[in-house]
Amino acid sequence: MIEIKTPNEIASMRKASRLVARTLGQLKAMVRPGVTTAELNDFAEKQIRGAGAEPAFLGYRGYPATLCVSINEEIVHGIPSDKRVVRKGDIVSLDLGAVCEGFYGDAALTVAAGEVSGGARKLVAVTERSLELALEQVRPGAKLGDVSSAVERFALENGMSVVREFTGHGIGRRLHEEPSIPNYGKPGTGPVLKAGMTLAIEPMLCLGRAEIIIRNDGWTAVSADGSLAAHCEHTVAVTEDGCEILSVSGEKAGG
Ligand code: MF3
Ligand code: CO
Repeated sequence: MIEIKTPNEIASMRKASRLVARTLGQLKAMVRPGVTTAELNDFAEKQIRGAGAEPAFLGYRGYPATLCVSINEEIVHGIPSDKRVVRKGDIVSLDLGAVCEGFYGDAALTVAAGEVSGGARKLVAVTERSLELALEQVRPGAKLGDVSSAVERFALENGMSVVREFTGHGIGRRLHEEPSIPNYGKPGTGPVLKAGMTLAIEPMLCLGRAEIIIRNDGWTAVSADGSLAAHCEHTVAVTEDGCEILSVSGEKAGG
């Protein structure tokens, strides 16, 4: 069952999601050669707790940190460490979740550290655009397959591949709710979207092949062929006439 949220519940998710978005914006500015992934994690945890919220990932199925930092061939769930230093030319994916008033917000972005290769730049741009195209599909009456296929089609058109082992998800009172939202599928298939549904949509694309390996830490998912990967994510609510992106900060969020 895909839960429909009340306006009050969505207001709490908006709080959590905006906090996540604002923190990701600040982290983005901190990503430069020399910063450690532990420093990014510590900043994220301070921002979330300082706002009176709770980190969503810390302790989730045993995950040991607030932030996921996944660099280059790392796709998702990279564990921050004071030994891992960002280097010039890296692409760095930051994934963050928070809980406010019992409701979750979840978002991710990928940022380049200094000058990166043309392939890396294109991968990040295609991943971001694939999320925008997916969001354009979100409105009452659309089917989930319309959203999924928008990501897949754009990725493939641009010669990139889509990770199949991880998906987006419903979100709300829990980090992961129904439905699962793959980044591949057929238009016109799957559950029908209704106003009040809240979804975390998160394309994960690779420059090479999409097969993954999980490292020995039990978490870090990397591309099996070592090719670069990028990830971005928004938490959204289905509205009467489309969708509201909840994980926006600053001007776009009206303050
Ligand atoms: N955005 C990711 C997800 O929805 C982050 C989860 S990381 C975990 O799965 F550590 F919490 F698992
Ligand atoms: Co997510």
